[in-house]
Amino acid sequence: MNNQGSLTAKVAIDSIESAVHTENHLRRAHAIGIAFDATFQPTGAAVPWTIAAHLQQTEVPAVVRFSHSSTSRNSNEQLNPVKGMAVRFQLFDGTFTNLTMANIPSFVSKTPDAFIRLLQAFDSNSTWSQRIDALIQDTEYKEFGSILKKLQPFRNFESLHYYSIHAYYLINKDLQRQAVRFEWQPLPQNDDGNSNSSKENELIHKVQLDQSIRFRLLIQLAEQGDIIDDPTIAWPDDREKIEAGILTLKSLRADNAESFIFDPTVTTQGIECSDDPILHFRSKAYAESAKRRGVRETR
Ligand code: HEM
Repeated sequence: MNNQGSLTAKVAIDSIESAVHTENHLRRAHAIGIAFDATFQPTGAAVPWTIAAHLQQTEVPAVVRFSHSSTSRNSNEQLNPVKGMAVRFQLFDGTFTNLTMANIPSFVSKTPDAFIRLLQAFDSNSTWSQRIDALIQDTEYKEFGSILKKLQPFRNFESLHYYSIHAYYLINKDLQRQAVRFEWQPLPQNDDGNSNSSKENELIHKVQLDQSIRFRLLIQLAEQGDIIDDPTIAWPDDREKIEAGILTLKSLRADNAESFIFDPTVTTQGIECSDDPILHFRSKAYAESAKRRGVRETR
């Protein structure tokens, strides 16, 4: 694994807790969300690249959690356009694999240390001009302003396009490896939302009505020379994308997936993590956050 720096998960979560308001029993990031049971029907198009069970021909159950990215209930989520979509594919042997994505094509920093420095600069006592200075002064964040500028104001979870940001490797039956990134592309739906209702209630209503909320799983294939382990660099738009399957939301989960840890390094045979240092740090940070909110998950 590449440079992990000196930052520990404990220090990272301590930094989040001292920079922004968090709540004991909630996730230390993406605290507020809404979860659904779903199904994933693979198309079979990914079979030449991977032996992963959920990317063959047979439908698998899945759990989906959409989340606002802030750390507590109190913040104004309409003003924060960064949202998350975490999916757990439940496999027939009782194991599972996760994809934990956000609606941005690349990340703000390539090291965990730089990300935590940024969080500290954005603490609740800082002014907007101090925050903008922090973003401008550190060259590592230079692309992020343009990503944020492209984000539209939040309309609803179900119309967003989500990205894995990190690369993974698909492994096929001949043990050939292909670097890829994953995306969820929303499929067109009836937009009969009642504007007096919350975004979450509108989504629940749509799912109950006709189960028309669907996302297509796209797999972007890297080409020779594409940088694999840097989450700040998206690959060129003309890279081939496979349509690997369709996710359909089925019903609201009564437990809201509160006890789930959507660790993005949990993969299955046929998928491997790249060496992206942010990806591997997320695993430790999510475990530390889960410990503090009283959740332990066994695989
Ligand atoms: C060093 C970088 C990062 C840190 C320290 C970090 C930290 C965290 C923490 C502590 C949680 C709560 C985990 C839990 O209690 O279960 C979380 C959740 C989440 N993060 Fe990150 N994160 C990082 C990068 C990313 C990136 C790059 C993405 C998008 C690709 C992302 C998307 C999400 C999502 C969607 C959730 C909610 C998952 C769920 O629904 O349970 N994070 N993050």
